[in-house]
Amino acid sequence: MTYKITVLSGDGIGPEVMEQGLKVLESAAKKYNFDIEINHALIGAVAIDETGNPLPDETIEKCEAADAVLLGAVGHPKYDNDPHAKIRPEQGLLKIRKTLGLFANIRPVSTYEILYDKSPIKTERIKGVDFVVYRELTGGIYFGKKGTSPDGKSAFDTSEYHVDEIDRIARLAFDAALKRRKKLCLVDKANVIETSRLWRATVDKIAAEPQYAEVEYSSMFVDNAAMQLIQWPTQFDVILTENMFGDIITDEASVIPGSMGLLPSSSVGTSKALFEPIHGSYPQAAGKNTANPMATILSVAMMLEYLNQDAAGKAIRDAVNDALTASFVTEDISNENPKSTSDVGDWICEQINA
Ligand code: IPM
Ligand code: MG
Repeated sequence: MTYKITVLSGDGIGPEVMEQGLKVLESAAKKYNFDIEINHALIGAVAIDETGNPLPDETIEKCEAADAVLLGAVGHPKYDNDPHAKIRPEQGLLKIRKTLGLFANIRPVSTYEILYDKSPIKTERIKGVDFVVYRELTGGIYFGKKGTSPDGKSAFDTSEYHVDEIDRIARLAFDAALKRRKKLCLVDKANVIETSRLWRATVDKIAAEPQYAEVEYSSMFVDNAAMQLIQWPTQFDVILTENMFGDIITDEASVIPGSMGLLPSSSVGTSKALFEPIHGSYPQAAGKNTANPMATILSVAMMLEYLNQDAAGKAIRDAVNDALTASFVTEDISNENPKSTSDVGDWICEQINA
């Protein structure tokens, strides 16, 4: 079996964490007897520098031809604070999501004992946190009509959702809940926003279907959810939400475990899937060999599980757990004797090869 993987390393620390992810992927392939064919392509600021386009057509073609896509990080400070920049690295990310039809972004959040002290939240509140956010990724205000008036004095963004867009991700989320602790919470703003009322009506109906009878379904306004995530995060199992709310609450959720450097994600659609760490390009650390590669390595595990290589995925997860337990970790997790990005990658590979 050969899997074709297109790799978009991107910007900042993207290339160095991706290098570790690919090493781990090669180790897992050797151990579990499958083959990997890697194809690199450009996205983000590096793509703008080389081609003038944050997502060249060649990249799209390579992603479409792949069994799965791995992405490092996208973003460069030279574009961040210039409101007049017409071309931005992030456009590459939004376009690849839309073009590949990646409508569901899945972000699991759990805590690790070694990190309890790193979390800004009290240990007793975060012990046992284990939830997953299903964020809609190709609709809503991100992709609606937008514009600025000719005099530059007003601007607008619109959020639009079709019932079919809600239905397809809701079913993925309910199916996930059935395989987990059987709880699903819809996060919306149905007391104010019309699209949220459509979400509520659509998801209420799905929740009432007999195949989801076992799922304990609830809904929560997003402002309350933002608070509950910090006050009582263990109450959540599957969270389902629209694009913009999902963007915000997943950043919030990422501080619960104590390091963003551990959180992987997958973005899935009808035929393609893309896997990426949820952290950004962290330009201050680029090229220093200090960034935590674990989120990328765990994204590789998620990718292998998507490709039905469950044993290989589990071996990677176990190796990451072992590294955490042995405190073989980068400086974001331990200031005493921190290891480099590549040392952590090598150590995890050795565990898998053993
Ligand atoms: C994310 C990021 C992106 C988003 C940005 C970089 C466009 O914040 O993946 O959460 O807003 O979706
Ligand atoms: Mg975000």
